[in-house]
Amino acid sequence: MCGIIGYTGYDEARGILIKGLKSLEYRGYDSAGIGVYNKEKKECIIKKCTGRVNTLEKKTDDMRGTCGIGHTRWATHGGVSDSNSHPHKFGEVSVVHNGIIENCETLKHTLGVENELKSDTDSELAAVLIDKYYNSDPIVAISKAVKELSGTFALAIMFDSIPDAVYTVRNVSPIVCCSGENGSFIASDIIALAEYCNEYFVLPEFSIAEVTKEKITVFDLDKNIIHPQMIKTDSVLKSSGKDGYPFYMEKEICEQPSAIKNTLESRISNGQVTFKNDNIDEAVFSKCKCISVIACGTAMHAGLIGKNIIEKYCRIPVTVYNASEYMYSSPIISNDTLVICVSQSGETIDTLEALKYAKRNNAMSISIVNVRNSSIARESDNVIYTDAGPEIAVASTKAYTTQSAIFYLIAAKIAKINKQMNENELFDFTNELLKIPQSVEDIINRKNEIHALSSLMLSSEHAFMIGRGIDFPALLEASLKLKEISYIHSEAFASGELKHGTIALITESTPVISLLTQEKLKSKQISNVKEVQSRGALVISFIKKSFCDNCTDNCFLLPELKDDFMPIPSVAALQYFAYFVSSDKGLDVDKPRNLAKVVTVE
Ligand code: AGP
Repeated sequence: MCGIIGYTGYDEARGILIKGLKSLEYRGYDSAGIGVYNKEKKECIIKKCTGRVNTLEKKTDDMRGTCGIGHTRWATHGGVSDSNSHPHKFGEVSVVHNGIIENCETLKHTLGVENELKSDTDSELAAVLIDKYYNSDPIVAISKAVKELSGTFALAIMFDSIPDAVYTVRNVSPIVCCSGENGSFIASDIIALAEYCNEYFVLPEFSIAEVTKEKITVFDLDKNIIHPQMIKTDSVLKSSGKDGYPFYMEKEICEQPSAIKNTLESRISNGQVTFKNDNIDEAVFSKCKCISVIACGTAMHAGLIGKNIIEKYCRIPVTVYNASEYMYSSPIISNDTLVICVSQSGETIDTLEALKYAKRNNAMSISIVNVRNSSIARESDNVIYTDAGPEIAVASTKAYTTQSAIFYLIAAKIAKINKQMNENELFDFTNELLKIPQSVEDIINRKNEIHALSSLMLSSEHAFMIGRGIDFPALLEASLKLKEISYIHSEAFASGELKHGTIALITESTPVISLLTQEKLKSKQISNVKEVQSRGALVISFIKKSFCDNCTDNCFLLPELKDDFMPIPSVAALQYFAYFVSSDKGLDVDKPRNLAKVVTVE
């Protein structure tokens, strides 16, 4: 994780670096720092501290200079401290680093610098190595150093003897570069640079960019010049404020009706599903005999909804993998296996590495990705973009609902191709799908009812969530949401499982959230609710309106859709529930402790 930025140009660097770091803070917010070249002192001056970029901003208003690098950290090697914050300087080389240098312990010994290091980080070794090889040619020095580093890295580098240039190199961890009127820029994500340029490029792996005021030159490790492909900057990235909402998470919850609508309507035409605009090779759908969904966290939960729908409508086996476990679990891959990777950021390293592994083993691949031109999107044979727009809050909301929506589309497409659905059935299916945005809108309009229910949870330390059938994977997502932003320990269970052990934990102080949207499971779920109620649990119910013949006080009535289409509105309601618990507890909803939005370490 970590966010890095670099600038050289005609304006003061400090303001540009701080502003960029604020938009990269989603990648980590344990500490932050900047290094700016100071002409009087003839060196890169570094200021860094634990805490947020706002804290750093207050400490750096005296920094002057037009060339600099910056970093916002998610700690891996070395605790959260001022000295472990980046930039790190060794000799005349200053660096900021995103990634993990896996051979740092060996390097420490072979370079004999144990007693000279000022931090406990792996990153400082990159500065040591580059400084060792620097002898007036920065490209040669970086190239030699990089050949000795193992692991993942994106580095931005400054040399005290080169006042106006920033250098950058990467392996796996992302770097984008662009030039604008005021100078040249590099960053971990284009979101930090979108306001400065109309086009940018992704730095190819194992190549070095020399970034000067006037131009950016890219070299391979043998110092040959290369010309990366330019990409147009997505204009939607240029305006990504909170629009008056207290937190991005609430803004993003409220954007879901339009995000889902955009995702669905561009791919449904006269009741048919089409991926024409996505340039998908439709052979992947007709050829596939089994599907492996690979993803992490929330994206993996969307995959579980996909599994339920695809298996029901297409009669194709779907296995959902935690990306971090995929390649170590001896997955069965053949030419007719379709791998579907799901990722909001498109940068999650576990998912990316799993995708590469599947491709090496001849799987066909589609990725469902939100961030355009991200690493997973580039690596995948086919990409379906969720049209959710930038998602800034660490807790994923609109990415999940749009990813889930895409799985319904894929199910419809395969079912049609495999003749599991006739024209009328397909028409009914897509027609129901198109009702989802309105159902989510209805929920958002009744947020006060959800708020009232969430207040019952404020003093709880633990919570359980129970549901059956497709309500269970929906609750896995709801439970993750509650945990990550409210710090309440929460577990979701398939209701029937509870009495096989976990019911021992139910007491009067354990709230149980019940989700009931499936007609065929109604009476069984009601029995399971009664079992926990009779052990004193406070039950908060999210229940489809038409099922509520005898509802208790603590009940939220979900809008009516056919049962199979209920997970998206159900989760939207439970996202708001978790949001209110977190904000009423006075927590930083958008930046929960210990987390980062983009997970680029394995
Ligand atoms: C969601 O709220 C989480 N922050 C997290 O589980 C996330 O979904 C996961 O890290 C995967 O990220 P990706 O979609 O960017 O790959």
